[in-house]
Amino acid sequence: MNKKNKSPNSNAKLWGGRFKELTADIMNRIGESISFDKELYAQDIRGSLAHAKMLCKIGILTEKELLLIERGLTKIQSEIETGKFEFKQELEDIHMHIESRLTQLIGEAGKKLHTARSRNDQVSQDVRLYILDQIKIIETELILLLEHLLERAKSSLDILFPGYTHLQIAQPIRASHYFMAHFWAFLRDLELFQHVKSTTDLLVLGSGAMAGVNYNSDREFLRKELQLSSISENSMDAVSQRDHIIQYLFAISQCMAHASRVAEEFIIYSSTEFNYIGLPDRLTSGSSIMPQKKNPDVAELIRGKSAMVFGNLMSLLALVKGTALAYNRDFQEDKIPMFQASKHILLSLEGLREMIAGMEIRSSSIETNLKKGFSTATDLADWLVSVKKIPFREAHEIVGNLVSVCTKKNVDLFSISLEDRKKISYHLIDPNYLEAISLYNSADKKNVAGGTARKRQLEQFAQAEKKLKLFQSKILTSKKKNSNKKGKS
Ligand code: ARG
Repeated sequence: MNKKNKSPNSNAKLWGGRFKELTADIMNRIGESISFDKELYAQDIRGSLAHAKMLCKIGILTEKELLLIERGLTKIQSEIETGKFEFKQELEDIHMHIESRLTQLIGEAGKKLHTARSRNDQVSQDVRLYILDQIKIIETELILLLEHLLERAKSSLDILFPGYTHLQIAQPIRASHYFMAHFWAFLRDLELFQHVKSTTDLLVLGSGAMAGVNYNSDREFLRKELQLSSISENSMDAVSQRDHIIQYLFAISQCMAHASRVAEEFIIYSSTEFNYIGLPDRLTSGSSIMPQKKNPDVAELIRGKSAMVFGNLMSLLALVKGTALAYNRDFQEDKIPMFQASKHILLSLEGLREMIAGMEIRSSSIETNLKKGFSTATDLADWLVSVKKIPFREAHEIVGNLVSVCTKKNVDLFSISLEDRKKISYHLIDPNYLEAISLYNSADKKNVAGGTARKRQLEQFAQAEKKLKLFQSKILTSKKKNSNKKGKS
């Protein structure tokens, strides 16, 4: 281009050729994404390295140019990681920043990197690589959480815990059963992330702006270079769909819904009114005015963060729904919710794990409430049915009366006098009455697969261990593979 014809914008913008006016300040401010998408720098560089290799393979870059590009990109990566890289709003996004710095560093060869590529396929690929990287970190955190839950369950096998329905005491359970209930929910989350990985694991580079590219790009080579499983079938779909982000945010949301339920229970159970658990001081905070306070902030923040994450999922669905194919600039906004949710889930899983590892279980308040809540009333009715051969409806009626008298006299099934029991039904003065209402017996009579009986807990542990081992070895081997590959390159 001769200097006279240069538009006023061509110095500032890599796309400035056709513009006669300088970009307005508002255009720069509303259009920039560098303030958040710099987080994608590593994936962008990885994608560019693969792209450059491919360009060399098909004869667009010489070996020498490829070497220059590789060195330049590596230098840029270290500049970013050591805080030496200069970010400027006018350069819009991470892709423009890296490309323009590359040209600054290596000259002409840098200008060739964007051949056979658009930012539309570039950004879409970067995000896919980012999600795959993040899921690896989330998986590790989830596995740690599962290990802690299982550990806690095993160590509380012989501790009783109250089981609730409608937040009213229902039946005694082993505390292990309670921890394992959450274990299975988080295991499902881990499984869900496997599905998200398979949706995300796709090569989209080579789709260009939307129609494909005018070069004989070797997409199979790119796929192998980036260690992806398959290649997108349609270039328009490839640059304009965001299903992988939606699914990623859904998986995070489901996991956060689970985390929030645990958090809610810890908040309730650690209150003075319940006093079933004590959270360690290090995970709570005090009040600036009320000296007695110990607040369960970590749990509350996990509950709060789950709300933010659901919002992130909604943002993505709403972002996509009104956009005609193919790429639209709206999509630039897809990253903010994605980054936010990624941070929230990692903090939350770590916080939850710490609470589970550090909490104390307060058996005496638990026992008091199990008795106060008549938690073995059903067991007593069932005993009347099986031992005294009374029809269930009648047994239910007898125990109902018993509970009503206890409530009036402010006693429980254990402390009500023999006299009072006799007045309700002579069956209730049987010497085995106390056995029939025993808390531990109640738990151990739930001797069905998946029940809270001690024997069934041991079965559950074995099942859980088996499932967990599968994931542990799968994730450890994939980590090993990656570090071997890194070591070689
Ligand atoms: N920063 C943009 C994004 O995140 C990159 C793609 C720009 N494409 C375009 N046609 N302006 O979506």
